[in-house]
Amino acid sequence: MSDYQILQKERTVLDYDTVALDDRNHALVIIDQTKLPNQIEMLSLTRQEDIREAIYLLKVRGAPAIGVAAAIGVYLAARQIAASCQDYDSFYKAYHEAGNYLNEARPTAVNLSWAIRRMEQIVLQRKNEPVNRIVLALHDEAIAIRDEDIRVCEAIGRNGLALVKPGDGLLTHCNAGQLATVRYGTATAPMYLGHKSGYHFRIFCDETRPLLQGARLTSFELSSAGMDVTVLCDNMVSAAMREGKIQAVFVGCDRVAANGDTANKIGTSMVALAARRYGVPFYVCAPTSTIDMSIETGDGIKIEQRKPEEVTTMWYKEPMVPRTGVKVFNPAFDVTDADLITGIVTEYGVVHAPYKAAFRDIFSRKEGGQI
Ligand code: MRU
Repeated sequence: MSDYQILQKERTVLDYDTVALDDRNHALVIIDQTKLPNQIEMLSLTRQEDIREAIYLLKVRGAPAIGVAAAIGVYLAARQIAASCQDYDSFYKAYHEAGNYLNEARPTAVNLSWAIRRMEQIVLQRKNEPVNRIVLALHDEAIAIRDEDIRVCEAIGRNGLALVKPGDGLLTHCNAGQLATVRYGTATAPMYLGHKSGYHFRIFCDETRPLLQGARLTSFELSSAGMDVTVLCDNMVSAAMREGKIQAVFVGCDRVAANGDTANKIGTSMVALAARRYGVPFYVCAPTSTIDMSIETGDGIKIEQRKPEEVTTMWYKEPMVPRTGVKVFNPAFDVTDADLITGIVTEYGVVHAPYKAAFRDIFSRKEGGQI
């Protein structure tokens, strides 16, 4: 049995990386997020089918976390393929198919395809090396992607914290927390850092229908860390803002288009509209891995549609909506227009409109090795 399989009762999810590579058992280790907060169960996955299903079913979820899970997943696939195939061309063909297979699990979060593409570059660049060496390089790249995610979230935390003051009421939607990354989260990184520095924030978590990531996950991880947390039903955001409870909104993102339009969990755009009405700053926390310069505007972002049962029955024993004669609209994400966003908090600083120029500047400085 893997060391990760059973969590000691006294430990919380925060004591573990959300996504990890177990080198001893050659397995992807995740916390099964569909069971939270009632049960903390670690899953140790080795088969590609199980990894893809875990991503589709949101056992591992959140854009950066599924990127890291996919990187580890394709490394494990490479290892398995190399066990019976040392010829580069056949190895590459099977590896490429494994990458496509995982990539199909969820369409909106760009980190999934970003991580798979980045891993594939390693295979392409090492065409003339023995397959076993390529597999070792893939291992190191998956670890590098994981470690980068931790550093990026820390930097987003520092940059986001500079935008708020002690005692502020901060609202977040869905879970862009530790459970959506390896550690710290994106939207929650300023909250964790502020909490450590005695900011005494009042945190407000939207419950986030239909899968309740805010109520089940964000409120769980932030209250476990000792923060002052209030859960809101999604339809209470405007009331909380009108009463002056919220001084800033921090949300995560699944894909940011070149013009700053941002896809995030369904309901995010409603929060942004309310924030604009009440003059509350609305910040999107975005690792640069989530910025997709190949898509001009939010209209080009593919929005994942999920099963009607998530709306009609999920989390309840009995159907909450009649089974027959009623249709269900269940997009998993929506797009918040760039003009509703006060600023986008990246690991390289906070950027403002016009976003395309600001992103280009970041990417060109990154390529030039200046940042
Ligand atoms: O469907 P989910 O739970 O994967 O959606 C997650 C979100 O929308 C997050 O806000 C986003 O992935 C950013 S996570 C840092």
